[in-house]
Amino acid sequence: MRTLIAYMSTHGCTGKVVAELGQKIEGEVVIINLKENPNPELDSYTRVVIGGSIHAGLIQRKVKEFCQNNLETLLQKELGLFICCMYEGETAMQQLKDAFPEELHQAAKYEAVLGGEFDFDKMNFFEKLVVKKVAKIRESVSKIDHNAIDKFASKMDKVFNPFLFLV
Ligand SMILES: Cc1cc2nc3c(=O)[nH]c(=O)nc-3n(C[C@H](O)[C@H](O)[C@H](O)COP(=O)(O)O)c2cc1C
Repeated sequence: MRTLIAYMSTHGCTGKVVAELGQKIEGEVVIINLKENPNPELDSYTRVVIGGSIHAGLIQRKVKEFCQNNLETLLQKELGLFICCMYEGETAMQQLKDAFPEELHQAAKYEAVLGGEFDFDKMNFFEKLVVKKVAKIRESVSKIDHNAIDKFASKMDKVFNPFLFLV
């Protein structure tokens, strides 16, 4: 089975998460950065995983456009959705909900928040200011959720067997 992971990353965290997820999902996995290729072909994939990161409450515009431009095709795939972000709990779940069209949430086999990181070396002056003021964080920190990545991969790999209801 071929899986496409299409993603966007502003400071590199989502790129790391995607590399880890790609190692854990079974079968052939192709990773495409939507910044470099906003229009990947989708016909040759059974599964598509879409991910991006949250900045000021929003996922990257290119992820939104990819979802909108390919909505009908994506509804035919085994679909996985994820975000990277630093909020947890209900706020993170609301950000996940807002990041993707409702049709894709309804169709998704699995979706999750996979953690995030603040990397001060990659932020510009303004971003550092915002993070210090809003998140009250002053140095780089990683909260990539490796357990959630494991779970995401195994949920995507799980085969639905209707006969299990009979035993
Ligand atoms: C300027 C800025 C704004 C951010 N805004 C949010 C936010 O609104 N909600 C959130 O949960 N995380 C927020 N974050 C945290 C990012 O989602 C986190 O750094 C993520 O790992 C970035 O992934 P990336 O490196 O792939 O872009 C923000 C980070 C920065 C630098």
